[in-house]
Order: sequence, then structure tokens, then C-alpha cells
Amino acid sequence: MSRLQIITLPKNEETLRKESQEFDLQLLSNPDWKTFLSDFKETMYAADGVGLAAPQVGRLLRLVAVDFEGEPQIMINPKITKKSWFTDIAEEGCLSVPKIYGRVKRHKKIKVTFFDETGQPKKLTLQGIVARITQHELDHLDGVLFIDKIIK
Ligand code: CO
Repeated sequence: MSRLQIITLPKNEETLRKESQEFDLQLLSNPDWKTFLSDFKETMYAADGVGLAAPQVGRLLRLVAVDFEGEPQIMINPKITKKSWFTDIAEEGCLSVPKIYGRVKRHKKIKVTFFDETGQPKKLTLQGIVARITQHELDHLDGVLFIDKIIK
């Protein structure tokens, strides 16, 4: 296993601001992609992260990892299908935005659909910190960073 390089602002602004492409699920049978996924999860934990999106390692693909209380959950082509009306505000940071932290409003509860790393479709209802992390990571797939949403 090897760690991937996490790209950061300001140098990699252009990449981090791009929209990511759908991930072709057929790639999951390719051993190189299996290696990539384990490296990706390892990279998130090695950096003390609780979430990581593929564009942060320079791959403009719709794929994220979210820490589910110690277990990494890969989400491929994730979509939020429902958002609670209730929101909350908490401090966020980002491995691609060094030394900046700020308070961001997120939906308290979301429903998300995605494919897991074996290609199985999943549908989950998330709340609390995992709902927040998932919303932060999915924003990366559209070139949106938490600094765009900081409440002054
Ligand atoms: Co981030």
C-alpha cells in the first residue's frame, strides 16, 4: 500500500474547483483500482482525516471515503436524495485547505444513495457527524469547498 498525495490550495485551486465525472463501475474489477481504493482509505487515515474525495488526490471522479466511526465507507457516484429541513452549524476544516477552519451550516439528516466498493447499490439515512462529513465530501465532487460556505 502506498499513500497518495493530497493536493491543496492555493497551488491546486484549478483542479479542486472542477466538476468530477461519474465513476465507471466496471473499473472495480480492475486490480489497479482495488489498490487505489485501499490506498485512498489509508491516505485519509494517515492524514488524520474523517473524509476524503477523489479530486483531493487529483482524480476528478465521483468517489469519496467517509469515516463511519472507525470504518471507512467508500461511496461511488453518491447522490443526496433527501435533506432535512433542520440544519446545524459546526466547525469544519479540510485536508486540501491548510490552516483554515470555519463554521458551516449543513442539513442535520440526509438520505444518500451510492455504490460501495464492491459495486453494490446502497441507500443510507445519515445524521450527525457522518451526515456533515458526507455533505462536505460530496461538495468536493462539484468543485465546492467549505470555505465557500463559512458563516462569518
Ligand atoms: Co474537504
